[in-house]
Amino acid sequence: MDAGGELKRLIVTLKAAGREEATAEAESLLAHLFGCRRLEVYLHGERKLTPAQLAQLKTQTQRLEAGEPLHYVLGEVEFCGRVFVCDARALIPRPETELLVEAALDFSKVWKKQHPKVPDLGTGTGCLAITLALARPHARIFAVDISPDALALARQNAARHGVAHKMAFMQADLLAPFADGELDLIVSNPPYVPTAEWATLDRTIRDCEPRGALDGGTDGLDVIRRLVAQAAAKLAPGGALALEIGEDQGRRVAALLKAAGFVNVVVKKDFAGWDRIVTGVR
Ligand SMILES: C[S@@+](CC[C@H](N)C(=O)[O-])C[C@H]1O[C@@H](n2cnc3c(N)ncnc32)[C@H](O)[C@@H]1O
Repeated sequence: MDAGGELKRLIVTLKAAGREEATAEAESLLAHLFGCRRLEVYLHGERKLTPAQLAQLKTQTQRLEAGEPLHYVLGEVEFCGRVFVCDARALIPRPETELLVEAALDFSKVWKKQHPKVPDLGTGTGCLAITLALARPHARIFAVDISPDALALARQNAARHGVAHKMAFMQADLLAPFADGELDLIVSNPPYVPTAEWATLDRTIRDCEPRGALDGGTDGLDVIRRLVAQAAAKLAPGGALALEIGEDQGRRVAALLKAAGFVNVVVKKDFAGWDRIVTGVR
């Protein structure tokens, strides 16, 4: 079987399994196999696939048919131009979370400090913490997660990107390990999906990604409320908080920050025009 024929066959199989992105997913499987970009697979149409390659594609297709997300099946995902290992131990990093990196890097006063202390709360794959550690090697970056599985994955990714020795990994509930006034910048993409909405999510998300990474309680703000209150105490004067939030949570989260004593509170929109990032200064 050549790659072009296999691509057509994969698309038909994935469509029949109800995969909405059947064509893109089939292209991604072949791109991963060939180590090329997705649309470059069409340049390899006449390439013959080995029995081992066909067997790998078969296993991957079966996992997709069973409802797993593409990136768990591939075992990796791109974030801020780097490849991160990704599996069911943690949430798959989303493109809009790259805006949180941008928002964090904008706090130039923080990064001018000699060794600013910056925790990433709920680090998951470690994508945010590792991207920040690579962008600001002088900073002390703490990757914190309540899930030991997620933390193991974050360590693996940090090692892959050569920054594990420069970071601290902590299994903890939010900011418990830190002293009052100790921190310079807190970055977090916490669980923020309201419980009722969680049940309506696509099954590739609901059945496969960790619920503890998504479910933010009745109104989605259970973790954010605790985090904002703790952040107000743990940040040094002039320290900042940068949070990812749900698409309709901007006004409510901004109000929480202001009530906790934050100033310069700003809500930023994502590519689709939804509320996505809230920042504030202590
Ligand atoms: C939405 S995921 C974010 C993962 C990653 N930072 C990203 O942006 O792709 C939220 C993460 O927060 C962690 N988490 C949930 N509650 C927590 C808590 N109370 N303390 C620390 N981490 C928590 C979950 O285990 C999960 O890894």
